[in-house]
Amino acid sequence: MDEERIILVSEKVGNRIQVPGDLRIPLYLEKDLQECTRKLVQTRGEKNLYLVYFLPLDELPQISSFVNRFKPAEIACTSVVFSEGPLPPLESPLLEVISDLRSTNVSELEMQFLLNKSFAELEKRSKNALRKERHLTGHIDSYHDLQALIDIGKSLTLEKDTDTLLRQILHLSKKITGADAGSIFITEHNAQGNKLLRFRYSHTFSKDLSYEEFIIPFDDSSIAGYVAVSGKVLNIADVYAMDPGAPVSFNRSFDEIHNYRTKSMLVVPMLNHLDQVIGVIQLINCKEAGRNRTGNESFEVLLKDREDFELKVTPFDIRYESLLQAVAGQAAIALENNRMIRQIEHQFDEFVKSSVTAIESQDPATSGHSFRVAAMCVNMARLLNIQEKGPLAEIQFTGTQIKELEMAALLHDFGKVYINPDIFLKGKKLFPHDYAFLKLRLNFLYRTLQLQYAQVHQEQARETKLSALKEIMLLVDELNKPSVLDIDRNELIGQILDQSKALQAEDLEGNQIPLLVPEEIENFRIPRGTLNKEERLIIEGHVEHTYAFVSRIPWPTEYQQIPEIARKHHEMLNGSGYPEKLKGKDQLPVQARIMAIADIFDALAAADRPYKKALELKRCIDILRNEVTQGRLDGELVELFIREEAYLGKNSPGGA
Ligand SMILES: [Fe+2]
Ligand SMILES: [Fe+2]
Repeated sequence: MDEERIILVSEKVGNRIQVPGDLRIPLYLEKDLQECTRKLVQTRGEKNLYLVYFLPLDELPQISSFVNRFKPAEIACTSVVFSEGPLPPLESPLLEVISDLRSTNVSELEMQFLLNKSFAELEKRSKNALRKERHLTGHIDSYHDLQALIDIGKSLTLEKDTDTLLRQILHLSKKITGADAGSIFITEHNAQGNKLLRFRYSHTFSKDLSYEEFIIPFDDSSIAGYVAVSGKVLNIADVYAMDPGAPVSFNRSFDEIHNYRTKSMLVVPMLNHLDQVIGVIQLINCKEAGRNRTGNESFEVLLKDREDFELKVTPFDIRYESLLQAVAGQAAIALENNRMIRQIEHQFDEFVKSSVTAIESQDPATSGHSFRVAAMCVNMARLLNIQEKGPLAEIQFTGTQIKELEMAALLHDFGKVYINPDIFLKGKKLFPHDYAFLKLRLNFLYRTLQLQYAQVHQEQARETKLSALKEIMLLVDELNKPSVLDIDRNELIGQILDQSKALQAEDLEGNQIPLLVPEEIENFRIPRGTLNKEERLIIEGHVEHTYAFVSRIPWPTEYQQIPEIARKHHEMLNGSGYPEKLKGKDQLPVQARIMAIADIFDALAAADRPYKKALELKRCIDILRNEVTQGRLDGELVELFIREEAYLGKNSPGGA
């Protein structure tokens, strides 16, 4: 920085000095030295001022305190003081701005000497101050850099989204080094297993440029490729002035297209824990040139024109090489962590899906049910996120909560694995083997009666009894059907049992052959569906089996709710559900209310239940609304489900 030397003489001592005739330094003879100094300071511009005062001792304190307001590197002053009387006690800092004390007049020769001495002193003092300041600035910069490194470590560890992570890595790298632009490349493998570099993220402070991802070869045909292959750091002062024999060359097409001038470049590899290059950070145009700026401050200097590129861009300081390597190391760890987390999540996802597929394949009755319910739940969560009006607008799901709901839905019926699949497959009121046994017994009775009456030659009685038994066989067949027909089951059973006396016969052990045994009667009395009370309880037990199984999985904290959500999928708002008969929205989280709707809808709409065919969509919707009327399902959620066709998920019935 330029300096300007000035001599200021108080009018009170103007007659005490003899000014050299060849003096080239401006000299001001002033009554008010402070005012004169103020004006000089105002007009100094970027220059440093070296001021030498000639003044009486009593004017010194005022001048000294005024000048002390400025940094010593900007304004340095000293003085030749005149005093005749007894000296008052002089202390620092006043003493420090006195270069000489005179009680007699100053000759031309002495004046010459005093000026030389004073300005030499000021120069030394100013340079020392400047050095100190630079040292301090360097310290502050290093402190900021270290602080930034710690912050990078913290924030990179916390960030789970890779895109945000890349943006952060580049932003912080540029900020630390004062770079104007930068890009991040990530190592990938193509289908043949060959490495390549994907240009993932880029930002130029001085230009508002959009960027598109592209791929470059993993070889030394580019600067980033060279760094990736060699694992070396490249610090280039000016890419346009590179040695033609250098192992890499710079491609100027970006500069030409965007009217930019890439000059200095710092490129470092990102190495993982196995020392493999997982990416490259490339920084462009350090902006610390010619000023006392730290990287952190110069980050926001704009490069507008050619002159700016020439004057403000400087090579990257050598210390940034190791600093950026440290950042790249942190970044690599964070990226690897994210990759591994995603891999584990993916593996777990696949494991859950494969397990659910395996379980559902045992039971064609519910094949695909869990996937469809999961898809509908995810649809609902996404739909809720975009509701702007009404009570549902308050419900919001984060990405993690949607994943949690999806997992809970995939696993909600997992407990069925512990239940005898025959119960799920029970298509009629009696199990096939029980029905076959009943028919066999009635056939045995038929043959026995036929034989008995043939022996005693009672043809007419025989025909009456045998045709009654045939009628019973038809009734039994009717009773066994699962259809919700308008038949009075008790009356039919009564009709059969009324024949017991008339159709008496003994088996080989002398026991009466019954027309119906109590278990058969109980099953024939089932009013809807095919399951008796005991079987229904066993099936309902799947919820607790699911809960016990899913609870054993060591879920990460953000998925802690999965077991509880899965456990509540058969709870109903009015308390008529199971297993805990929970009641009201306070007891039933929105996830469980959503899952209950999806679960019922799929049971109705799926074509694969043993005891019923798939219902028409309109009928399914009517039934859902009826469930709302009865207070079992959440009306607002059901209406959203119907209005937005949440059932048309990728995997849901009727969907694509
Ligand atoms: Fe279930
Ligand atoms: Fe289910």
